[in-house]
Order: sequence, then C-alpha cells, then structure tokens
Amino acid sequence: MSRIRVIILGAGGRGLNAYGEYLAKFAPDFEVVGAADPLPARLEYAKRLFPDIPSNRLVSDWRQLLDCGKIADAAIITTMEPLHAPIAIAAAGVGYHILLEKPMAPTEQACRDIVTAVKKARVIFAVCHVLRYTPFYRAIHELLAEGRIGQIVHVQHFEDVAYWHHTHSFVRGYNNNGDKTSFMLLSKSCHDIDILRYLIGRRCQRVQSFGSLMHFRRESKPREAGEAKRCHDCAYEPRCPYSTLKMYVRDRIATGNGGWMTGGLTKDQTVAGVTEALRTSPIGRCVYECDNNVVDHQIVNLEYDGGVTAGFTMSGFTEGGRRTIVQGTEGILRAELDGGRVRWLDFLTDTWHEVEASKLRGVIEEGHGGGDYGLMAEWTQALRTGDGSHIITGPDESLETHITTFAAERSRLNGTVETIAY
Ligand SMILES: NC(=O)c1ccc[n+]([C@@H]2O[C@H](COP(=O)([O-])OP(=O)(O)OC[C@H]3O[C@@H](n4cnc5c(N)ncnc54)[C@H](O)[C@@H]3O)[C@@H](O)[C@H]2O)c1
Repeated sequence: MSRIRVIILGAGGRGLNAYGEYLAKFAPDFEVVGAADPLPARLEYAKRLFPDIPSNRLVSDWRQLLDCGKIADAAIITTMEPLHAPIAIAAAGVGYHILLEKPMAPTEQACRDIVTAVKKARVIFAVCHVLRYTPFYRAIHELLAEGRIGQIVHVQHFEDVAYWHHTHSFVRGYNNNGDKTSFMLLSKSCHDIDILRYLIGRRCQRVQSFGSLMHFRRESKPREAGEAKRCHDCAYEPRCPYSTLKMYVRDRIATGNGGWMTGGLTKDQTVAGVTEALRTSPIGRCVYECDNNVVDHQIVNLEYDGGVTAGFTMSGFTEGGRRTIVQGTEGILRAELDGGRVRWLDFLTDTWHEVEASKLRGVIEEGHGGGDYGLMAEWTQALRTGDGSHIITGPDESLETHITTFAAERSRLNGTVETIAY
C-alpha cells in the first residue's frame, strides 16, 4: 500500500519536535517527502528524522516546495502566524490536506480567507487547537454531554500563565510585541476561547473584555535597579522575582532542571554557559526595559446562545496551569488540568464524584497533556480513511472561535460590548 506523503512548512519546534517526531515514531504509513525552513540546523534535524527526504526537497522557503506542484498528500504548516494565511491559501490551491498551527492568522480577514480557500479546495483542514484532543478535556466534554451536572449555565476558566513563562515569552521573548506577531489573547489564549466553545457546545453571541500591560513597563522598575538594562548589571537583581539569573540559572540550570527555558538560550547547558548566554540574549534584558506591549492580565466575559455565560481570566502573575469550573442546573464541576483532577458535585445527592486519574492521561503523554499526540492520532486517521469527522477543530468552529477572540480584543481596545457577526 502506498504511504501517505507529507511536507512540513516551517520545521521549527512545532513542525518537527511535536508533529514530525510523532510521524517518525508512530506513523510508519506516513512519509515526509519535503521540509522548508530558512534555518540550516532545522533542515539537518529534518534529514535526521526522515533520512529519505531527497536533498532538493529540503529548502529554505515554503514557496519552493509549493512551487513543485503536488508532491504530497498533505502539508503541515508550522511557521509563525504572519505566514500562515499565504501558505495555507497556496497549499489549498495545490490540493493539499492541511494541518495548520494556531493562531490561524493575525487578522480576522486572513482567517476568513483561509477558510474560504480550504472549503473551495474541499481538503481536510485541521487547526492545532490541541487542548480539545487531550484526554483531560475529552473526559470533561463527555461528562457534560452526558448531562451529569444538568444544563450548563456558567463556566469560569483560567489560564494561569506562570510568571516565568510569561516573562520569558511575553515580556522578553518572541511573543512580546503584538505589532510583530499577535496580541496576547490570540497568541496564547485562542486555545482557551476555543475550549470554552467545545465544552459549552454553543456559539458565542456577545463578548466584552478588560486588560492591560500593567506591570512590565519602565514606570514599574524599582528605583534601586537604576539604569541597569540587564540582570547582570543590576544592584536590585538578588531581590527581583523576575531576575533571569534567578529563573534560568539558580532556579533551573543549577538544580539540573534546564528544560525548554534554558534550552533555547545556548547549546552549552551548564551554569557558566547559560550565565554567559544571558549577557547577550534578548532574554537577559531587565524585565522593565523591554520592547513589549502585550497585556500581562486580561479578562473576557462571553455570552452564548440561550443565555449561557462564561468568564475567562488570563494572568501572568501566577504559578501556572489551567483551571475550569462549570456550573450546571444539577451540579458543579471543578477541573485542574495540571493537577490532573476532575470532580463534580451532584446537587441531588450532595455527593462529590471524581474522574479516575488514568482516564485523564493519554496512552502516549508528551506535549500539552497528550494534546499534541492526540491531535496527530486523529489527523493521521482522518487522512488514512478520508473521514473528516476525526477532526474536531475543523474550519467552521476554528474560524468561529478566532472571530470571538478578535471581537474580545476589539472590546478591550475600544471599551465596547461586541455583538459577534459570523
Ligand atoms: N498548538 C500549540 O499549542 C502551540 C504551541 C506553541 C506554538 N504554537 C504555534 O506554532 C507556530 C510555530 O511556533 P514554533 O514554536 O514552532 O516556532 P519556531 O520558531 O520554532 O518554528 C517556526 C519555524 O518557521 C521557520 N520559518 C520562518 N520563515 C519561513 C519560511 N519563509 N519558510 C519556511 N519556514 C520558515 C522558522 O525558521 C522556524 O524554524 C506559531 O504560530 C505558534 O503560535 C502552537
């Protein structure tokens, strides 16, 4: 039987380390026949993972692969989001089934254009809203769909972005400036607006949001920090909770827990290596002296069909994790993704029940609570069988939740309550 051929456009963290590695390990009936990335190291890794890719199909730009005509069955699009729309529209034009990273695109119009193109091309299209594919949220979804707590009335959902993650990615790092990539609610929390839609099972009709960049700005810099632009040069550093010497060196590499935070800084994963890298990396900058402009906290109120409401809170002043509380007409459910716990109170018997912990974990765990591999398991199955019902993040609901996200941001900026036009 012939294998299903895939090209990877944007062979970075998501393209190779999440989805490519899944294909290499778990999908022997799939064949990666091309990869595009301007970084030679990423193409070298693609070649190591998939030794059969011909060298003329390891290219520096996505256009070079799409210009070859139809050399595969499907395209995995995992560049950063400013390139998503041109690539997805061109890939649909060639006739590729598409796996597209979130957010779909940085503007509402571009998201709409992608959906128009994939529908016209009649290809299988999935957006990587990986939370929906976690055993954790699937278990909650099933429980709610079975009516265990009656009809959903109200949901509270929290995305607690850990203070170290927030300052790494959204103050010092790549996603810190909405003019360069996307606003915070889109880049970080479109997953959360999407998971609310999945759990509630209704369309959002009105939305309102507040939030700002309150703390991580020059005005908040402690006086003792003076003119220091980097933690290395700062007299206040030992007392600063956001010091990079604390977060990357003392808390992580010195305790043997480097992980992705220090991994992106340097190949030299030693105390000396990471300390030195922080002298020149943008990550080593004073947290109050960066070019960041995305919010550090934001709330969103949502009203769905039938009067169901939800409140969402994203904050960078937390220890990290996602929490969800669902209030129903016959019970209340409380869930903590990172604690791996889901329990619900039945009002009739006044008894708490708990979902067995093993049901909240994937057979293969890995990234995002099993969501990365859960998504890939369904996507590969959809391609094998041609059955699009494996995809629960298809064009319509993905567009819907992106439109909700854009409307929430308009509300935050303009002080309006937005009625959503789909
Ligand atoms: N689903 C999730 O939970 C999740 C998690 C993290 C990131 N993301 C999203 O995934 C996307 C990629 O993130 P990442 O962390 O993998 O970033 P990354 O920087 O590791 O990967 C992007 C890759 O695209 C490459 N690229 C740039 N220009 C290109 C071009 N012209 N042609 C081909 N390749 C090009 C870059 O060199 C880079 O290797 C982003 O949109 C991000 O928001 C999603």
